[in-house]
Amino acid sequence: MEIKNICCIGAGYVGGPTMSVIADRCPDIYVNVVDKNEERINLWNDKNLENLPIYEPGLDKIISRCRGKNLFFSTDIIKNISEADAIFISVNTPTKKRGLGAGQASDLKWVEACAREVAKYAKGYTIVIEKSTLPVKTAEVIKTILEASKSETEDTKSTFDVLSNPEFLAEGSAIKDLEEPDRVLIGGENKNAIYALTNVYKKWVPEEKILHTNIWSSELAKLTANAFLAQRISSINSIGAICEATGADVREVARAIGSDNRIGSKFLDSGPGFGGSCFKKDILNLVYLSNYFGLKEVGDFWEGVVKLNNWHQHRISKLIIKKLFGTVSGKKIHILGFAFKANTNDTRESSAINICKDLLEEGAILYIHDPKVNSLQISNDLGKSENLQLKSLTLHDDFNFEGEWVFSENLNDGFINADAVVVLTEWAEYSNINWIERAKSMRPPAWVFDARSIINPKEIKNANLNFWRIGDGAAM
Ligand code: UDX
Ligand code: UDX
Repeated sequence: MEIKNICCIGAGYVGGPTMSVIADRCPDIYVNVVDKNEERINLWNDKNLENLPIYEPGLDKIISRCRGKNLFFSTDIIKNISEADAIFISVNTPTKKRGLGAGQASDLKWVEACAREVAKYAKGYTIVIEKSTLPVKTAEVIKTILEASKSETEDTKSTFDVLSNPEFLAEGSAIKDLEEPDRVLIGGENKNAIYALTNVYKKWVPEEKILHTNIWSSELAKLTANAFLAQRISSINSIGAICEATGADVREVARAIGSDNRIGSKFLDSGPGFGGSCFKKDILNLVYLSNYFGLKEVGDFWEGVVKLNNWHQHRISKLIIKKLFGTVSGKKIHILGFAFKANTNDTRESSAINICKDLLEEGAILYIHDPKVNSLQISNDLGKSENLQLKSLTLHDDFNFEGEWVFSENLNDGFINADAVVVLTEWAEYSNINWIERAKSMRPPAWVFDARSIINPKEIKNANLNFWRIGDGAAM
């Protein structure tokens, strides 16, 4: 069987870029990305590519090459399901907020809703592919729904196979990760379905990089990959705290351990803590699964990774307050970066959220800058609207406010009369700041807190500013 027409349900950070690359590399396949969110689909169809709903380097070029040729974005879910011979499910699976497994298990209601729609409207033989990261054994749920819904289906002869094909792309480098993946993982039972999907990827991925497993290994491998990556970050951040206490330097420790081939040098950058939509959610899934299967010690082990991350984020805000003489009330703090990492406009689980909330709680006046995140998103994340009055204020004496924030459109404005600058996202433009110039407008004794290690300490010293950097015991 040959896949000629793909439908992807969910036009988000995963569905959008993944389908764009498939369309780009497989001109013979029609790729239809559908989403129930009309506003999002309109943005995917916007003529001005700057308005695409997600920012990802290189994505706009692919969209301009393929959109309207073999790549389409639409809200017509039913029509596209009925015409597809392969359907990717790429909807979000947030952590459950209430009920059984609240705070840990993934909420599968949207995956279930998709499976029901597929069961109802698919025609003939269809391969259903899980792209969303899901708890182990979700494929079984999808299969059960597909089989049980036969009586409601429009085509009583429709048949299905379910595959797991988890996505390993990282935001900010999604296009490169998709074009040159370390591996493509396909889990399933039916060999023909597996080969049909393999043939799609083979158009650009070397065959030896396409791994076939059973369906549960594939689902578990995705959770495990994210858990291992997140674990490295909590590990290095925990060591960073020891470095600060002892006079060691976490960058030197990371270089020394990373030279060991068995450890490797990647994913050892100490920062403000991991964010993003996946790490925390996937680990909590693993914790839930472990406890469900009576493996409490395993669950506790992985939960420690998330606990350390939460502690680490609050450690940074506490430390800022401590350095600013124990109070930030009414003090101006310029926050550089709100996205959970550079080169994305995504703020889900960004460490900046917790750190800024802590500082606002303590009465700080925050000027928040980010090249790609907008003020509305920051308002939603902080649960607090910006105070536009702050835009016209520069003199410290004017700040009759406490615990307020404003979006800083212009990077340089935020420095005027600031007591501190805090770097939370590693955007390239923050590495090129002229500190001697900026320091002139700050209120002494001003501080620079670099939670991403992107600023040259010498430049800060030359500018006569106080400096703290993550995991740097010598700079304490
Ligand atoms: C990711 C991954 O796909 C998933 O593996 C992970 O578990 C959660 O996050 P992402 O693409 O980043 O998903 O999520 P998001 O940007 O929220 O996109 C999901 C899209 O699905 C949204 O646009 C939403 O409107 C759409 N959706 C959701 C539907 O079209 N139908 C639904 O029933 C539910
Ligand atoms: C992650 C996985 O990398 C990807 O394979 C999976 O498909 C989805 O989840 P993503 O969350 O997009 O991708 O970004 P990633 O680059 O993994 O970064 C996650 C968080 O860890 C970010 O907040 C980042 O700043 C932080 N990080 C990463 C560090 O603090 N130090 C590092 O060395 C690497």
